[in-house]
Amino acid sequence: MHNITLINGDGIGPEISEAVVEILKASGVKINWDIQTAGDDVIAQEGVPLPQRVLDSIKKNKVALKAPVTTPIGRGFRSVNVQLRKELDLYANLRPCKNLPNIKTRFDNVDIIVVRENTEDLYAGIERQVDENTAESIKIITKKATERICRFAFDYAVKNARKEVCVVTKANIMKLSDGLFLNTYREIAKDYPQIIQREILVDNLCMQLVQKPEQFDVLVLPNLYGDIVSDLCAGLIGGLGVAQGANIGLDCAVFEPVHGSAPDIKGQNKANPTALLLSAIEMLKHINEVDCAKKIENALFKTLNSGKSTADLGGVLGTKEFADEIIKNL
Ligand code: NAI
Repeated sequence: MHNITLINGDGIGPEISEAVVEILKASGVKINWDIQTAGDDVIAQEGVPLPQRVLDSIKKNKVALKAPVTTPIGRGFRSVNVQLRKELDLYANLRPCKNLPNIKTRFDNVDIIVVRENTEDLYAGIERQVDENTAESIKIITKKATERICRFAFDYAVKNARKEVCVVTKANIMKLSDGLFLNTYREIAKDYPQIIQREILVDNLCMQLVQKPEQFDVLVLPNLYGDIVSDLCAGLIGGLGVAQGANIGLDCAVFEPVHGSAPDIKGQNKANPTALLLSAIEMLKHINEVDCAKKIENALFKTLNSGKSTADLGGVLGTKEFADEIIKNL
């Protein structure tokens, strides 16, 4: 029996969480869900969107599945997502982007793993107004954080039988900060002679990705480029409804879809649970439930191959009906 924290989120979060929990239950995997509410809906009662009990639950269980949470704007609360990553030191953002069966996109051979550093770079939030007409943001790159993200990317490549880890920077211009990222990658790469090394500048990468994405395998990037490139890659495989993600640290891991709480379709049984389901499949692999992960993936692919999907993918099924089809195919 696995103890796993479930943050069922708000907006479409509860609907897609319910669908995914049902699918996992039907697959036979034994999970004891520790359900934790967070986000907009808990502010009224508890005063904050991310109460300490949520962090305590994840620290205890080590693994969480998280549905999207609305970020309150203009009320002084930090984003639940940013806070979770920071408090739990979830330094690696992992975004597998692979074509799914029967989902029509421009390319049919995308299989890219984006590994984004999650804790520093321009996202460290060190900004100041120099004078009325000038603002500055400081880009922090440290050897320690770069070493651990590069090692994570290479270890992932070894564990998942990938061939290449490509480092993405703009080291020709930002010679010190991106230069440090690149040099650290080169040092770490020496420990992984079985993995092919590759270096590319981020602008060239973007062009190549929209022309020949099949040439890329694992990418490792500093935070800002990683944020942008991972959304680009999500677009290559069919967009938000199917884009999964995970935030991983030394102690804990939080698996979550890329998309937000989609308030425009909240409570209408329209949301596509695929991105959360794919995140849950990655979570099952993480806890060594590999056979079960494969079984659910096969059922999802069979469902998509039979032409059944939700409205965002051109189908006619509601969230619940789509989940029922996957359960039938398990
Ligand atoms: P969004 O991702 O919620 O929605 C963008 C568009 O995609 C909408 O038209 C929505 O209906 C559609 N969409 C998203 N997920 C879908 C799904 N599973 N099935 C079908 N259609 C889907 O982005 P938006 O509107 O910018 O953000 C809404 C809220 O979510 C904001 O408060 C934002 O801060 C929060 N957010 C939370 C995230 C998280 O918890 N990890 C990530 C991104 C945004």
